[in-house]
Amino acid sequence: MALSMDKMWKEFILVCAVLDAVFGASLFHCHEGSTCHLETTSFEFLSKFTQKQYRTIVSLTMSNASINKVDPKLKYLKNLQYLDLSHNNVQISSIPSLTNLKILRLNGNNLKFINLTALPQNIETLDISHNLLGQIPRDWRSLKSLKTLHLFKNPVDCDCNNVLNYERLIKSGIVVPESITCHSPKKICWKRHRCC
Ligand SMILES: *[C@@H]1O[C@H](CO)[C@@H](O)[C@H](O)[C@H]1NC(C)=O
Ligand SMILES: *[C@@H]1O[C@H](CO)[C@@H](O)[C@H](O)[C@H]1NC(C)=O
Repeated sequence: MALSMDKMWKEFILVCAVLDAVFGASLFHCHEGSTCHLETTSFEFLSKFTQKQYRTIVSLTMSNASINKVDPKLKYLKNLQYLDLSHNNVQISSIPSLTNLKILRLNGNNLKFINLTALPQNIETLDISHNLLGQIPRDWRSLKSLKTLHLFKNPVDCDCNNVLNYERLIKSGIVVPESITCHSPKKICWKRHRCC
């Protein structure tokens, strides 16, 4: 046992060294040698790591990194639980179906439309605030484990369909932190206020 831990540590020290050599600005932390958090601005690490090393990464932050496409090799990070792709121009169709992913941050990606059916299906928290969404996604039910949906700072068109969809979303128990603001009309036109 001690021997294998020793071997693991050597491996992680090696990983850190590789990362340091590749990009000085990356941050790489491992806890107890088996769960690692990586913060970087490039997908280069994917070609440096072994399959075994991929599996140690549980959290990946690539915020404000001028990304528009996610490297398909990201699918090898099978234990990834947290993925922060905020403040980029990510095409969501390029995000692989990571089954352990719980938190996905896509805030600030200039998204005009989002197909939730195409996202990793087990996510519990989705941040799509600060985008250009005029419609509240209709397909939120496709994310069966969804508990929290960040929607604020989108130019939502508060027409009848959107308002009804929003009310159903809230009623379903999904938490929407900070309410949406209407781009048009200026005031939310709630069903119970007889607008629809
Ligand atoms: C993104 O990075 C640029 C350049 O480093 C910086 O000016 C900008 O404030 C950053 N934006 C965010 C949202 O972090
Ligand atoms: C949404 O994504 C799913 C799964 O990838 C696909 O089957 C469907 O056609 C997409 N819908 C739209 C409107 O793009």
